[in-house]
Amino acid sequence: MNPLKIGVIGFRNIGQVHAKEIAANPETQLVAAADLREELRQEARERFGLTQVYGNYMDLIRKSDAEAVVVALPVPLHCKATMAALRAGKHVMCEKPPAASAAEARRMIDLSAQTGLVLTWGLQRRFYPEMFVARREIQAGRLGAIYRINVEYTVQRATLVASDPFRMRKSTGGGVFYDLGVHALDLAWSLLGCPKPLRVVTANHTVFPDWVNEAARGDMAEDNSMALVFFDGGAAVSVETSYCANHAAPTHHHPRLQILGDKGGLQTPSLAFVSGGLEPKSVEKRTLAAEPTDGKSERRLMHDNFVDAVRGRGPLLILAEHGYDLMRMLEAVAKSAEKGKEARLK
Ligand SMILES: NC(=O)c1ccc[n+]([C@@H]2O[C@H](COP(=O)([O-])OP(=O)(O)OC[C@H]3O[C@@H](n4cnc5c(N)ncnc54)[C@H](O)[C@@H]3O)[C@@H](O)[C@H]2O)c1
Repeated sequence: MNPLKIGVIGFRNIGQVHAKEIAANPETQLVAAADLREELRQEARERFGLTQVYGNYMDLIRKSDAEAVVVALPVPLHCKATMAALRAGKHVMCEKPPAASAAEARRMIDLSAQTGLVLTWGLQRRFYPEMFVARREIQAGRLGAIYRINVEYTVQRATLVASDPFRMRKSTGGGVFYDLGVHALDLAWSLLGCPKPLRVVTANHTVFPDWVNEAARGDMAEDNSMALVFFDGGAAVSVETSYCANHAAPTHHHPRLQILGDKGGLQTPSLAFVSGGLEPKSVEKRTLAAEPTDGKSERRLMHDNFVDAVRGRGPLLILAEHGYDLMRMLEAVAKSAEKGKEARLK
């Protein structure tokens, strides 16, 4: 079958990461790019050899022969661009967080259902090798009933925000929970089987207000966040996320999970597995082997899964519908921090 023709909308940071993966994958063909900035359009032409290059993303949607698009725009534009692409008959992989609000995510999901087109989200961390193992072990019942997952996803001070201050501004969809916490929460929530979220308690801190300029201080989002999310069925997830942790390591950009079940516990990415009862002798500790991924990156595996779903060859791992509850949880995290009390989800 011919490779899936994909256009990338927003051709800077993550847009170009997608573009490289798409260009290198025999299942996909990079055919078009759109960005407001001429120097990035020039890169699309020169480095990627593209001829269908646009300043206005609506032109890519209307005029290019892309069958699918990756939406790698700032968060406030996710909904508009995704809806336009779906209306034009294109499948969509939209970057995270899914939208600026749960209401927007709802509209995007409903339109994908109406059009029968695939909509998924750029939550590539679900394709980490250790996540395949965690899903397998949970499904096989080796951890028993999962009652808690703790996720730590913190980044060493100044590795991220210094280069991309938009991440710190509420109006551009920033804040560490919307930006990084969404990945961490998504990993834990999806391992639990996407149960209904019930309530959230959050503690936010803004440690470095000087990451945004004086004029933008009123728009400053949190740079540290800790949230506890409770789910239908009794499980709870704790997420600790930060742009500015004082780690000993120069960078730490990989979420760490502790998955606790009544039969066993599993840590990722180490894959340390512990099971047993209250008798010290009954405790078994071992390190599980990671699933081989043939050297494919998590983003490449996500693209392959997207192509399979578009071609009707296999199920999508990151369902459109997941975007709605994720956004509801993000909104509840923000609300709890703002009000200083528990936020309940309806
Ligand atoms: N999945 C991940 O790991 C990951 C990593 C980084 C960013 N992201 C997400 O990807 C999205 C983009 O982030 P980024 O870091 O690449 O941002 P970025 O600012 O580097 O790139 C966005 C690009 O969109 C362009 N743009 C803005 N408005 C436009 C318009 N109307 N028409 C055409 N182009 C327009 C800008 O010129 C810019 O080049 C965000 O939602 C972010 O959260 C995801």
